[in-house]
Formats: sequence, C-alpha cells, structure tokens
Amino acid sequence: MSPKTIAVINFKGGVGKTTVSWCLGKVLSEETNWQTLMFDLDPQMSLTEAIGLNENTGHLDDKFGKWYERSIKYRQTIYDALEVFKKAGQNFKFPIGIETIYEIDEQLHFIPSVEELYWLELEGFEAKNVKDFIRRFVGKITNSSHLPNYDFILFDCSPSFNLLSYSVLSCCDLVLIPVNPDYFGSRGLSLLLNSLKRRIEPFPFPKIAVFMNKAKTYGGLLTNEVQFYMREDKRICAEAAVENNIQIKFLESTIRETVGIKRAINEGELPADIVTDFDELWRECAEYLK
Ligand SMILES: Nc1ncnc2c1ncn2[C@@H]1O[C@H](COP(=O)(O)OP(=O)(O)OP(=O)(O)O)[C@@H](O)[C@H]1O
Ligand SMILES: [Mg+2]
Repeated sequence: MSPKTIAVINFKGGVGKTTVSWCLGKVLSEETNWQTLMFDLDPQMSLTEAIGLNENTGHLDDKFGKWYERSIKYRQTIYDALEVFKKAGQNFKFPIGIETIYEIDEQLHFIPSVEELYWLELEGFEAKNVKDFIRRFVGKITNSSHLPNYDFILFDCSPSFNLLSYSVLSCCDLVLIPVNPDYFGSRGLSLLLNSLKRRIEPFPFPKIAVFMNKAKTYGGLLTNEVQFYMREDKRICAEAAVENNIQIKFLESTIRETVGIKRAINEGELPADIVTDFDELWRECAEYLK
C-alpha cells in the first residue's frame, strides 16, 4: 500500500505548522505504531532544529550532528536530490538511503532541511523542473526494497508558496491547515482557500482539512472567542468549497494552547493532554481520508 502523504501548510507564519508536524509524527509513530516519515521543507529549518539542536549548548546534538555532516559531505540531502532531478528529469537516479533519511527512532524517520533550499529560485530552479520532484522522490522511497514501507509521510512546509510547496501540493493526499483563533487567521484562511486551486491546476486537487490550533480554554471548555472563530472559519471553509468546487472539511477537533508544547518538542516527549488532542485530530483526519 502506498503511504498517505500529508502537507501541513498555511502561508501565515507562526500558526503552528512545525509544532503540528512534529506532534502528529510523534503520535502516529508512537501511539498508533505507524511507520512515519517527516520532511522539513522549510528553509528556516525549524523542524530540523527542533529535532537536532541541543537546547543547552545551542549546537546540533552529537548523533544528529554527525549524521547531518555526512549527509551534506556525501551530497545526500534533499537539495542534492533536487539538483540531480533538475539535470536528469525523467532519468532521475538518486539512491535514497541512511544518509538521506535520519532515524529518530525505529518508527519515526526524518528528512531534514538544508540552507540551500533558501536560494532555489536564484540557483535556476523553476516551477516546471521542480513540480514533479516530490512525487518522484516519494516514489523512489516507496519502491525501495531497503527502506521501510511508510504508512504516513508528513511535510512541514514554509509559510510562503515556494517551489517545494508547489511540488508537494501537486501530489499530496491531504492538505492540513492549522489556523489560530483571531481575525487575521480567518482572513488568511479565506485568501489561502480561494487562491490555492488556481495555483495547483491542472493537477488534481487534494482534500483539505482545516483545524484550530492554539485554542484557548477556560475551565476545560473552549473560550467564547475560540468558538466564535471556529464558526467563522467553518463558514469560510464551506463557502470556499462551493466556490472552488473542492473538498474542504473544517475539523471539530482542536489543539489546545498549552504552555509546555515547545519544551515537549525539545525534550522529545509529549504530555498526555497534547497526545489526547492529536489523537482526536488524527481520528477525524483518518475518517475524512477514507
Ligand atoms: N498548541 C499550541 N500551544 C501553545 N503554543 C503553541 C501551540 N502551537 C504552536 N505553538 C507555539 O507557537 C510558535 C509558532 O509555532 P510553529 O513554529 O510551530 O509555527 P509555524 O507555523 O511552523 O511557524 P513558521 O510560519 O515560522 O514556520 C512556537 O513558539 C510554538 O511553540
Ligand atoms: Mg514552521
């Protein structure tokens, strides 16, 4: 069975794309035991740093740091693959192995970002020679006999529509959009939902799921403000679905605002309340993906 591919996207910054990618990767691989692969496609490298950086020293931790150095030295990074793809096109040959995919643990694997992704446009990459890259790259992973059969592949995308997000959107199964409960969150959501299809065409358009992240609670219940923006965003989703003739679901599950979420990522362990939120979110996504 081919893996389900999920792109975590919002062109608004700071809504929680990286946090959601990481928590979901952790929950899918640990709680449900799915073999999971995460990509950091953001040149800002937040997910790469969350996974590889030692908070106390400010340097890459030893295990990840050594692996990352080798990956760069032997030209096995995602950027190197992209360069080969640009030159080779249909004859794309790039052996994907342990120097491209980092094992966080047995069930959770990771392809980090690299600095060069910042300058793709300046390095002569264009939409036409990048659009098929992620599909072909994932195809290689799926067909490889020495890599695990991944159940899920997650992409943490950058807050701008760059060549790699274009390439992911043209081939993923689900676009997962975290939004925050505020006016600009709803405004950004409307802009995003009403402009995406035009950019992706003529590719088949993936399913879209939108959900509230950083949902404030009071006494265990969502605040009135959060409930207001949930109704607002649900309406925006319904209208955009009709207007653009695409599938959009506003998820009822929310991810609560929690002080400890950042520390949890750095320490590599998720507290039970965060796991519960992501479990529920995932259940709703899985139902929608069927
Ligand atoms: N549910 C949450 N509760 C509390 N804080 C959160 C939550 N989700 C994310 N944050 C915090 O919000 C900030 C932004 O999160 P994150 O980096 O994941 O956003 P992003 O959308 O990936 O940002 P960028 O657009 O820069 O890539 C971080 O400090 C993170 O810890
Ligand atoms: Mg991010």
